[in-house]
Amino acid sequence: MGSVEVLKNIFWVGAVDWNIRHFHGFTYSTHRGTTYNAYLIVDKKTALVDSVYAPFAGEMIEKIMEIVDPSEIDYVVANHVETDHSGAISEVLKLTPKAKLVGTARCRDGLQKHYFGDWDFQVVKTGDRIDLGKRSLSFLEAPMLHWPDSMFTYIEEDALLLPNDAFGQHLATSKRFDDEVDEEVLMEEAAKYYANILWPFSKLVVKKIEEVQKLGLKINIIAPSHGIIWRNNPMKIVESYLKWAKGESEAKVLVVYDTMWGSTEKMARSIVEGISSQGLEAILLRLPFSDRGDIIKELLGARGVIVGSSTINNSVIPTLSPLLEEFEGLKPVNKVAAAFGSYGWGGGAVKTIEETFEKAGMKIVAPALTLKWVPDRNELQRCVEFGREFAEKVVET
Ligand code: FEO
Repeated sequence: MGSVEVLKNIFWVGAVDWNIRHFHGFTYSTHRGTTYNAYLIVDKKTALVDSVYAPFAGEMIEKIMEIVDPSEIDYVVANHVETDHSGAISEVLKLTPKAKLVGTARCRDGLQKHYFGDWDFQVVKTGDRIDLGKRSLSFLEAPMLHWPDSMFTYIEEDALLLPNDAFGQHLATSKRFDDEVDEEVLMEEAAKYYANILWPFSKLVVKKIEEVQKLGLKINIIAPSHGIIWRNNPMKIVESYLKWAKGESEAKVLVVYDTMWGSTEKMARSIVEGISSQGLEAILLRLPFSDRGDIIKELLGARGVIVGSSTINNSVIPTLSPLLEEFEGLKPVNKVAAAFGSYGWGGGAVKTIEETFEKAGMKIVAPALTLKWVPDRNELQRCVEFGREFAEKVVET
């Protein structure tokens, strides 16, 4: 695949990683692959904004060479240190002898500690501007969206925002724009990306969007460094970010569980029956069959979450532990929660789950439901009631 013209003399020169299935080590499943987006702006001065993951350096350089001789590049902007965007910088800088490397002070320090290069670095901060000729690059620091060094680049003349990781999606496709792909798939991947990467920084997301609004920056196109470029309706993703960051979700319930011999599973199914009887959607997912990253995405959209586990060693089945740890780290706002599970001679699992809810700031709205050994008909009816009452709490919240 060659370069793609985003606007006259602004080119996508990134790479599509069709085969990657795990990101950030094994913390994030990328079922649909990803892209590393880099943008070449050709003007009196030429700038490359961001680069690609190191294995794709050659591919990006070939695309650049279709358009300009890399030695003509004057600026290489690094919006972010992380290797999926900076991995090719060393190779690029070998071909761009006159280029200045541009980024925040933290980016400079981070790149130095990653690549140990002796580069001509220009530190920029919010409000700084580099004139290219007909166009200019302005910079907006965005610390912790999602690393301390993160920065957005803005081209005022086109109202084009290059926000690096923000507004991205892990989605490999031969298409480059939002109006060319299935909107449902696009929003699903955007939501999963937000939930798994940006959720803990939600307060900063709201603050940054408000800052952009206060600065009066017009935005016609958002070109992130992963996935699709938002040119048809860029405000759709901005509004979705505000909704997710403020904890707005639907009155539906995510039920996640694992079971040893099926009793906790019977409980889970009856709880779902109770939720459904109130007209609410329930999503039932069992670990380890469901992917943790997908579960986190479902949690983003659901107001209620119920977690169940059989008890083993006075606690939960270990398959649930990484998810519970994620809850603590993500601290999802505006979630109501409850625990359940079957036990044999001690019911420690629900205690562990409730402790997690408390640490994660999730509001427990019903006492945990625990049953000994195999639930009988009456006990399953109690599970249905538990689901029904929980659904009422979700609607009231
Ligand atoms: Fe924070 Fe896409 O890297």
